[in-house]
Amino acid sequence: MAIISYLTTVRLDAGARRYLGDDLKAAGILRPLMITDRGIVAAGLLDDVCRSGGLDQGVPVYDATPANPTEEAAIDALALYREGRCDGMIALGGGSAMDLAKAVAVLAAHEGELQSFAVVNGGMAKITAATAPVLAIPTTAGTGSEVGRGAIISFKDGRKMGLLSPYLIPKRAICDPELTLGLPPLLTAATGMDAISHCIECFTSPVDNPVAAAIAIDGLERAIKALPRAVADGSDIMARREMMVAAMEGALAFQKGLGAVHALSHPLGGYRELKLHHGTLNAVLLPPVLRFNEVVCATTYPRLRQAVGLKEGGDVANFMAQFAERLEIPMSLSALGVPERILSEVAKAAMLDHTHATNARPATEADYNAMLREAF
Ligand SMILES: [Fe+2]
Repeated sequence: MAIISYLTTVRLDAGARRYLGDDLKAAGILRPLMITDRGIVAAGLLDDVCRSGGLDQGVPVYDATPANPTEEAAIDALALYREGRCDGMIALGGGSAMDLAKAVAVLAAHEGELQSFAVVNGGMAKITAATAPVLAIPTTAGTGSEVGRGAIISFKDGRKMGLLSPYLIPKRAICDPELTLGLPPLLTAATGMDAISHCIECFTSPVDNPVAAAIAIDGLERAIKALPRAVADGSDIMARREMMVAAMEGALAFQKGLGAVHALSHPLGGYRELKLHHGTLNAVLLPPVLRFNEVVCATTYPRLRQAVGLKEGGDVANFMAQFAERLEIPMSLSALGVPERILSEVAKAAMLDHTHATNARPATEADYNAMLREAF
């Protein structure tokens, strides 16, 4: 069993969930609130984790995490947290449950509306060491939120904004690939494409961080090999483990900053009624962003090509488009049901996203419009 101590201590192995009791103790959590979603409960994963982890029946559970976590859900979960006199969170699920737990962790320890903690509202300085501890147990391999310092929340006013702070990094993560075995192929593909987009965007971002760059490129190499296998055969535990590592590595590289793919997919994901999957959006946006960035990436693209197995001078954007197509991801915004009339609004919002600043090539609103049209 690999024990990896970067910022979060991660327990990585098939069956790692059996050590939940030890890890709660290590995280200093005596009375956890379990944050999860109804799909996880229906799939039997909540019962499994409680049983394997030796958790007693009395643990309060918030199981109404929405597909894109909302401010309202954070307020509801906070009420349960207070009622149960909890002192920390277990986040069991995909990025939504983990991000929601982080939002609750902030609210549990600070005064003020959640909006005021958004990074674009100067929230980073307001999130303190008092933030409640989170233990993360991912059930997808994509967001890497189990080792990340960010959380993306949909606010009451319809905006989708990020919370960002080192105090949001989960104290412990249990990465047990057995928990991802039941993930259907399309969700495996979409979440995997999120991990790939993290690795690519962080690797090409202009922020100087060679350690994060090395982690990102390793994550990309692993995901390119493992994702088609995990999609083709969900029971391939080695492919599942590789994807879990790739997702974690993508998020460990976040310190380098994301880019235009996320600057665009965050506002698109904010249209709740469209129910767009974050990873699917990233898969669709990746090729046009890679094309846009290419002129400034003379030093980074050769290494990207190598990582994905392309020859010198190969077209990374086309490669990624074909890669996602082979995973049967619908490869246009129109096919995903995005109405054309919102594109210019999305381009405007992308300029305000916290990931806009670290795109490989500075983008204008017109550039974002052009990338969106290409993806449409
Ligand atoms: Fe992402």
